[in-house]
Amino acid sequence: MESGNRKEPSGIGIKGIGAYVPEATLTNSDLEQMVDTSDQWITERTGIKKRHRASPDQATSDLAREAALRALDDANLRPSDLDVIIVGTATPDMFFPSTGCLVQRAIGATKAAAFDISAACSGFLYGLSIAEDFIKTGKYENILVIGAETLTRILDWTDRATCVLFGDGAGAAVVGRVGDGRGIISTFMASDGSMGDLLKLPAGGSRMPASEATIRNRLHYVKMEGNKLFKAAVKAMANAATRVLEDSGYTGEDLDLLVTHQANLRIIDATAKRIDIPDEKVYTNVHEYGNTSAASIPIALAEAKRKGVLKHDMLVELVAFGGGLTWASVLMVW
Ligand code: UT7
Repeated sequence: MESGNRKEPSGIGIKGIGAYVPEATLTNSDLEQMVDTSDQWITERTGIKKRHRASPDQATSDLAREAALRALDDANLRPSDLDVIIVGTATPDMFFPSTGCLVQRAIGATKAAAFDISAACSGFLYGLSIAEDFIKTGKYENILVIGAETLTRILDWTDRATCVLFGDGAGAAVVGRVGDGRGIISTFMASDGSMGDLLKLPAGGSRMPASEATIRNRLHYVKMEGNKLFKAAVKAMANAATRVLEDSGYTGEDLDLLVTHQANLRIIDATAKRIDIPDEKVYTNVHEYGNTSAASIPIALAEAKRKGVLKHDMLVELVAFGGGLTWASVLMVW
């Protein structure tokens, strides 16, 4: 890689990656039997063909545990090597203990401090950014960053505008020192709380505790203003995608691979166009998993690595957008 006025990698990056998705799937034709929708509408508007669904006995921490063990295996590390566990999720097992603590117990990461971050679909990239900065301080060596969701648990299966979009899954990355010339070059995080109402789960928190009325009014399900969110997503993803490139002296043409949050193929295409990166360098798997929120980027990374698409020394950009609103990006040498 050229240097000049380009920013060098920090030497802190992803040492191991792993993902887990539940076996059961829901296809677009399955959904045609449940709500007034069609395979054609879902495919044309989103690119989604199917999504995976957790079994009744699986909660978010169960999916996270599997992804975590696979990431540790990939990094050749044991749970006891972890200093911190960070879980990005919008669908924790419960309010507390945090899903991070549940994973810590489940994998026996005895010396790790664990916590969750609430940044919806941007959760994994927020976690990656936090992990890099934690390691930079010299205080921590190995940090497990997980994005894990069981979104099918909070979907209103009578609302065709949302229930066709989301799926369950988990992805995890062990972040640590990867050596000179590799790792994270730049990170970026942003939020705009003024547009938070576009995507939310209204009830069950301190604002609107669970009651008979909240259940009757279906307020424990995802509410989304899809079209307004779509416009915000295109703008925010473009902003995030350009920020880390500009910050570090690169352009889209320098990239070997773009891995974005997998919500909608049209949003991914618009982001790729904004930074002039050709289709063959854009990894997509939204057709297979739907929108898995915080899990989508690490699932895509693990899959791209397994398929041999993601290789050492590639310049990779990660870009996310989600409820909050939140958006984020990371530029790294893999
Ligand atoms: O994870 C990060 C956050 N999420 C996102 O970034 C998602 C952003 N939004 C989107 O991806 C898109 O807005 C959607 C895929 C959700 C919707 O696509 P759209 O092109 O924005 O459609 P729309 O909401 O404007 O709806 C168009 C039409 C409406 O009918 P009318 O009013 O034109 O008659 C909807 O009622 O499509 C109808 N519609 C459906 N039709 C069949 C909405 N959902 C469905 C459905 N099947 N499942």
